[in-house]
Amino acid sequence: MTDRKITPEQLRSRYWFDNPEHPGTTALCIERYMNYGITLEELASGKPIIGICQSGSDLTPCNRHHVALAKRVKDGIRAAGGVPFEFPLHPIHENVRRPTAALDRNLAYLGLVEVLHGYPLDGVVLTTGCDKTTPACLMAAATVNIPAIVLSGGPMLNGWRDNERVGSGTIIWDLRKRLAAGEIDYADFLSRATDSAPSVGHCNTMGTASSMNSLAEALGMSLPGSAMIPAPYKERSMVAYQTGERIVEMVWEDLRPSAILTREAFENTIVTCSALGGSSNAPIHINAIARHAGVELTNDDWQRLGHPIPLLANVMPAGAYLSEEFYRAGGVPAVLCELLGAGKLHSGAMTVNGRTLGANIEGCETRDTDVIRRYDNPLVERAGFLNLKGNLFDSALMKTSVISEDFRRRFLSNPDDPDAFEGRVAVFDNAEDYHARIDDPALAIDETTILIMRGAGPVGHPGGAEVVNMQPPEALIRRGIDALPCLGDGRQSGTSGSPSILNASPEAATGGGLALLETGDRLRIDLGKGEVRVLLDDTELAARRHRLEERGGYPYPPHQTPWQEIQRDLVEPLDRGMTLRSAPKYQDVARR
Ligand code: FES
Ligand code: MG
Repeated sequence: MTDRKITPEQLRSRYWFDNPEHPGTTALCIERYMNYGITLEELASGKPIIGICQSGSDLTPCNRHHVALAKRVKDGIRAAGGVPFEFPLHPIHENVRRPTAALDRNLAYLGLVEVLHGYPLDGVVLTTGCDKTTPACLMAAATVNIPAIVLSGGPMLNGWRDNERVGSGTIIWDLRKRLAAGEIDYADFLSRATDSAPSVGHCNTMGTASSMNSLAEALGMSLPGSAMIPAPYKERSMVAYQTGERIVEMVWEDLRPSAILTREAFENTIVTCSALGGSSNAPIHINAIARHAGVELTNDDWQRLGHPIPLLANVMPAGAYLSEEFYRAGGVPAVLCELLGAGKLHSGAMTVNGRTLGANIEGCETRDTDVIRRYDNPLVERAGFLNLKGNLFDSALMKTSVISEDFRRRFLSNPDDPDAFEGRVAVFDNAEDYHARIDDPALAIDETTILIMRGAGPVGHPGGAEVVNMQPPEALIRRGIDALPCLGDGRQSGTSGSPSILNASPEAATGGGLALLETGDRLRIDLGKGEVRVLLDDTELAARRHRLEERGGYPYPPHQTPWQEIQRDLVEPLDRGMTLRSAPKYQDVARR
């Protein structure tokens, strides 16, 4: 039985639908809803009005089955005594949107804030899936602060080819190398790649989509155990129904995001992200959600809390399995259980079902300890991010667990210090420049070269491009060198497992030090000190900065749309979550 904290008269929607002091505006509000068959009783007799923020459409295939799932959500809402209203989220499809889907995270956020603030909604079900749909929805829920619950669409079924698992996104990175090495042709490439996506749902690897939906559950914003139910499974429809039921109860309990999105909850997501082998996009999005919730989270928090945590989820790209095995092995609750057992989580964090995280995972267990490892038998130790600094940027993230022995041999600068590396850089000014010149012998790229990608941050490439992990020149690949370290001010796909230094902030286009680098410079990466430094003295760096400023600063392409111009004017760096500068000051905007 729900513990009612508000009365029907206190429902937010009553202001629109039952307001005798303003009969004219009330009539105008109700008549158009009634004209498609909703009764006055449904609108104005004290039933919670529940929005269903629909992120699925023909343009967003990863989330498209939410169109069908919404019917089950509505069944649940009605069964619990609420009235459902479905409305669209601005489409965000990771693989297709140009110049990049990340550009639309903030646009979808803005649109959703306006809807939640301006319409008669008492609570909202946030349908999530493809990468940026989850943070866009959670950022808006944090800003508006009406009762809100996340319903993930769930990942696709496993992909298979020749009796082997093929993971979405991850397979592309392998196939590109095989195509470059001449082992397969274009038709074979496409055929193998499409085998990775056998059903509805989002990417079946631990890419950004699965990471963000799992972290939404770790945050306490979705029903326990729901994040990773594969999209076509019957349990997915069942949890859609339960989510609908639950949001109505949350309205009566007045359980708002502000009670759930606490500092403890965000710290739990950092720890969970490391154990999942989560996407390097997660710190950007989690920091953004935190800022909108009024919690100041930084990449130093990610290093302090996340770097020591081991990798437990044996899921691609870091591991061997895919989301179906992960779900069957116990999914997110099993990972949380291992972490809680090791004393790494705040068990008292509140969740959408009105119980604490600790209470929710009581009795959970790992059903397959190869897929979800025990805390004391992990896949990799220290699987989180280091937050690197130095004379080129203030923050950049690196997953040190992917540094191989071969890498250590090639880049070690001093045999007595296993954490210090040095290399000569080859610099590229965006993805087109990289593709045009990577095989140019004049760059003299060899196995000890560090590839630099700049002009790929949220301003340089509107929204920030996922282009930092770059393939070596074909000549090196043919010699068996299939990876070089990469560093850049852009992002990296969550489905890629390359050892890169990412998200360097500030970016070149806003005056960041990467703009001063030249091909041939030497770079020193000292993981012990948490530093990356170009081996140039301050006088030379100052002279280069002077010359850059004389040329008018680091150039970036012209705006193509009004939104690109607005976003470029307002967007903050990746380490601050790529939020819009003025947005985080708006909090709790729906309170009456
Ligand atoms: Fe949509 Fe991966 S492309 S989830
Ligand atoms: Mg991506």
